[in-house]
Amino acid sequence: MDKNVVYSLGLGPGDPELITIKAMRILEQSDVVIVPQSDELGRSVAKDIISHYVSDEKIQMYFFPMNNKKEELVKRYTELAETIKSLLDSGKTVAYVSMGDPTLFSTSNYLTDKLKNIGVAIKHIPGISSVNASSALLGISLASKGDNIGIYELSAKADVNAERIKNHSTTIFMKVHKKLNALIEAIRESAPDEAYLIQRVGLEGENTIDLLESAPDFDAAYLSLAIIKKV
Ligand SMILES: C[S@@+](CC[C@H](N)C(=O)[O-])C[C@H]1O[C@@H](n2cnc3c(N)ncnc32)[C@H](O)[C@@H]1O
Repeated sequence: MDKNVVYSLGLGPGDPELITIKAMRILEQSDVVIVPQSDELGRSVAKDIISHYVSDEKIQMYFFPMNNKKEELVKRYTELAETIKSLLDSGKTVAYVSMGDPTLFSTSNYLTDKLKNIGVAIKHIPGISSVNASSALLGISLASKGDNIGIYELSAKADVNAERIKNHSTTIFMKVHKKLNALIEAIRESAPDEAYLIQRVGLEGENTIDLLESAPDFDAAYLSLAIIKKV
């Protein structure tokens, strides 16, 4: 392990067996493993995954507020970058973990910027994204020859989602949670050929719903995404 860089590890979507051998080795060799946490009740899927591979003493939870206030988040990421720099300066090897792949809608992206500002190098170790785990669970292709694919955070505006569906062979919507109704409406408007909600892939409570057969009127699970396809 290089002592001058922090390793940003993708942990996969939740199943502890879907972590890469490389990430597992770096976890084992790290002195400190930093786990971002935004759940005030202290729940962390990332911690559950790494607990299979590292002892509790190495794990440092790092709290981020859930309120989406940009200034507070920027402050926390800046502080975290400084903490990581101090750890590296004291000769410790450091890993930062995040769910799925660290380059896709990940807290790791914000941290990378803050670390760059203070001259600390970060090395990303790819992980299996929840998108790939979901298409594998459904047994469908994400894209074939000639297709295009778009990955978005689901908008609360149904017409924005509908437009995106119309523009791609496959459209992935992340962060569905409390906006499921804006997706259901978009599906009605854009009439795709396939539409699935995937909740908690690789975790307890994993399930898929065919959104062309039923239109749920509840919130989707906190960890859920949608895959929409046009033939
Ligand atoms: C902050 S993003 C992290 C994405 C992650 N970097 C990845 O590659 O999968 C969180 C979003 O990823 C999706 N997600 C992550 N884990 C999931 C899971 N186990 N099942 C379904 N969706 C998941 C959800 O859309 C969730 O709102």
